[in-house]
Amino acid sequence: MKTEEIIDRPLTVAVIGYGPRGQTYTHHMKARPEQFTVVAGCEMRSARLRQMQETFELPDDAVFADEEEFFAEKRADLLIVATQDRDHVRHALKGLELGCHILCEKPLTNDPKECKALLAAQKKADRKVIVCHVLRYAPAYAKFKELLDAGTIGEVVSVDQTENVYYAHQAHSFVRGNWRDSETTSPMILAKCCHDLDLLQWFAGSPCESVSSLGDLTLFVPENKPKEAADRCTECALSDTCPYSAVDIYLRKKFWGRFMVSDERPLTDEAVEKGLREGPYGRCVYACDNNVVDHQTVEMRFANGVTAHLNMIGLSGYAGRQIKAYGTLGEIDFDDHKKTIEIYPFGGEPTVIDTTTLDTVPDGHGGGDDGLVSALYDMLTDRSPALTSLAASVESHYIAYAAEKSRLKGGKPVRIKH
Ligand SMILES: NC(=O)c1ccc[n+]([C@@H]2O[C@H](COP(=O)([O-])OP(=O)(O)OC[C@H]3O[C@@H](n4cnc5c(N)ncnc54)[C@H](O)[C@@H]3O)[C@@H](O)[C@H]2O)c1
Repeated sequence: MKTEEIIDRPLTVAVIGYGPRGQTYTHHMKARPEQFTVVAGCEMRSARLRQMQETFELPDDAVFADEEEFFAEKRADLLIVATQDRDHVRHALKGLELGCHILCEKPLTNDPKECKALLAAQKKADRKVIVCHVLRYAPAYAKFKELLDAGTIGEVVSVDQTENVYYAHQAHSFVRGNWRDSETTSPMILAKCCHDLDLLQWFAGSPCESVSSLGDLTLFVPENKPKEAADRCTECALSDTCPYSAVDIYLRKKFWGRFMVSDERPLTDEAVEKGLREGPYGRCVYACDNNVVDHQTVEMRFANGVTAHLNMIGLSGYAGRQIKAYGTLGEIDFDDHKKTIEIYPFGGEPTVIDTTTLDTVPDGHGGGDDGLVSALYDMLTDRSPALTSLAASVESHYIAYAAEKSRLKGGKPVRIKH
């Protein structure tokens, strides 16, 4: 499917990795049968593989538990890569070799050499690689960018962004869960914040030149474990009072991450409780094998002189980004928690946009998950230009690599070579 072909049929889709992310994209595609047909998939976990086969009514010879068998031939026009962080480039390269377009989960990789290999492979294969920077497709973020581009606050001079991760999400993903160990996955500034860094370079409208960063793992360390605490929340005397009690988070408050505690569907409290007794999500947050930070700041300077500050904070009482852009003629504040965009023109009256009036699509990253799938068909069939390129996505990764390098050197500035 080269660019000169006109496609006027649903694109066939294969997915590798049917965890929450693989499920999200394919389910949004199922709602668009005129654009996408899921025809094959590969998943190592048997319960998830079975769910995928049932959901898309796939024949036995279209579902695979083994990636070598799956990649033995081209399965579809588009390959969704929704496996874990360290596998994305390997899977995307195999898909490109077979002639597929690729929708690839972030982060692409921890390794700058792999970024270069992927860029080269994309060029050689002449296929599209779209990285799931879903926030670019979320209506409120798109509106914020549109206001900046329209010159609402003149020239952008500086941007201040806070990523409020939320205490329960921090514990779920970065202490107990999949992204707790930078040796096996990614440093948190890459895993969680390649979105933020991508947004900041988008808002700045220029490549980043210089980065410095500070941050630590302060709270979730063994020294902070209370003497009375057990290693598992289901057996802990403090489970009624500890804010990080897995019993409180997953069973009482029914935090969204409970879907990852057990593969059973429909999910019952009994299955969640069993998962807490036996699996990683029931562990005391002070008795896990975690090493990623719980707070990190990044200072950036872009080639056009724009400066930016990012505060990634795991210990926040609510989730949602706050972004303030300062320009030569005014200020715009976007609060994804309060769902407002406030515009303060210098010398003029402030105006407020209620961003819930923009969110006409199903939620999931503020509508970004559905927004990406909704834009995808037209991008892959050349009916509209892609909102972002693989090269731009790679740039956001270079900022993250530089930030982590700086953090490990106590905040020493790191220059990014272009
Ligand atoms: N774009 C976003 O906003 C966003 C949000 C959350 C997570 N992510 C990223 O999406 C990716 C997937 O996240 P998730 O929460 O679905 O993770 P997950 O670990 O729950 O799911 C990944 C699935 O891939 C399967 N898998 C791994 N290697 C495989 C292989 N070789 N062959 C077949 N199956 C294989 C696993 O069994 C698992 O079911 C991660 O890299 C994560 O960082 C992106």
